[in-house]
Amino acid sequence: MKSVTPVRSLMSVLAHSVVSPPPIWMMRQAGRYLPEYQSVRKRVGSFWAMCMTPEIAAEVTLQPVERFDLDAAILFSDILVVPHALGQPVRFEEGLGPVLGEFRGEETLERDVVIWDQRLAPVYAALRASRSGLDSAKALIGFAGAPWTLAAYMLEGKGSPDQRAAKLFAYRQPEQFGRLLQMLADAVSFHLVRQLEQGADAVQIFDSWAGGLPDAEFERWVITPTVSVVSSVRERCAGARIIGFPRAVTQTQYERYASATGVDCVGIDTATSIAWAAERLGNYGAIQGNLDPIALIAGGKALDRAVERIMTEARLVPHIFNLGHGVLPETPPENVARVVARVRGTA
Ligand code: CP3
Repeated sequence: MKSVTPVRSLMSVLAHSVVSPPPIWMMRQAGRYLPEYQSVRKRVGSFWAMCMTPEIAAEVTLQPVERFDLDAAILFSDILVVPHALGQPVRFEEGLGPVLGEFRGEETLERDVVIWDQRLAPVYAALRASRSGLDSAKALIGFAGAPWTLAAYMLEGKGSPDQRAAKLFAYRQPEQFGRLLQMLADAVSFHLVRQLEQGADAVQIFDSWAGGLPDAEFERWVITPTVSVVSSVRERCAGARIIGFPRAVTQTQYERYASATGVDCVGIDTATSIAWAAERLGNYGAIQGNLDPIALIAGGKALDRAVERIMTEARLVPHIFNLGHGVLPETPPENVARVVARVRGTA
């Protein structure tokens, strides 16, 4: 294994090279566990206003990279900017998370890309400002929710443990649901392409609710729309680097996702063995994950052991060090610093 320290080491891994030590960033690395985030949030007042004010979103995007010297920044935004662009009202309630206005049918959603572009303009301005404030050796990651996860939010109106409303709609009205997924695939592709055009080095597709689906539905609701997103992004941005994160799916489904979608890297959740992922998914491209966000809260020996295990088990394949899901608000920032130092062998 050769040791390299290229510019934007994360991009080398996404080009399927083994880099040692691996580049590191963390999902939800900008957020409430950081005092500097809390102070901006207090000043601005709301999460959504932070997302939609470009200088603020860029400032918060850069905070964790400045504090921890991570290898990548992820744009501070939210997956629900896409339903917002399509005209479904989105608001964030304190302590409750996102709440969406009633879904009135796929045919009532906005189809005009000029309007999508206007509604998402603050996100793209935030992306440009983030890129210009970011060290050139660091990668900037853009993102979007996957069609299935977005459809689930749009039909449920909020987060839900089993996506029952979305599944019922999809089972009962498969044609309408298929049209909704296709429209979302178009909007998600548009959003990813715009981010890549304006300075994102790579993009991640978050399919947070991909878990718990029977194989046939996983195929129709996760694989098919993701294939459509990946191919239409690459049609417009040749060579685009794409990370896919189908959270909490079975090993068979992970393997199907890695082989069928054409993403450059698959995100591995906490419950899936990284040793298994290295062996079975490493042939298709890179893997990313899977540190338990709760071990990150716990710290101490348990955290050191967890980091060590991932480093060992993923050492022979292209690997990006990350969590199995997002950083939680209770996380002591010094534990994040500790992980970065352990991964780089400086602590
Ligand atoms: O990772 C990052 O640092 C970049 C920013 C980012 C946020 N949300 C900021 C955020 C990203 C990549 C997301 C993605 C996102 N948003 C997902 C996919 C990843 C996942 O967590 O599964 C989902 C499902 C959402 C929808 C969403 N946004 C929920 C369910 C919530 C409430 C839960 C919570 O943690 O409060 C949000 C709010 C949200 N998005 C916050 C942040 C920093 C908290 C806002 C605050 O109260 O300050």
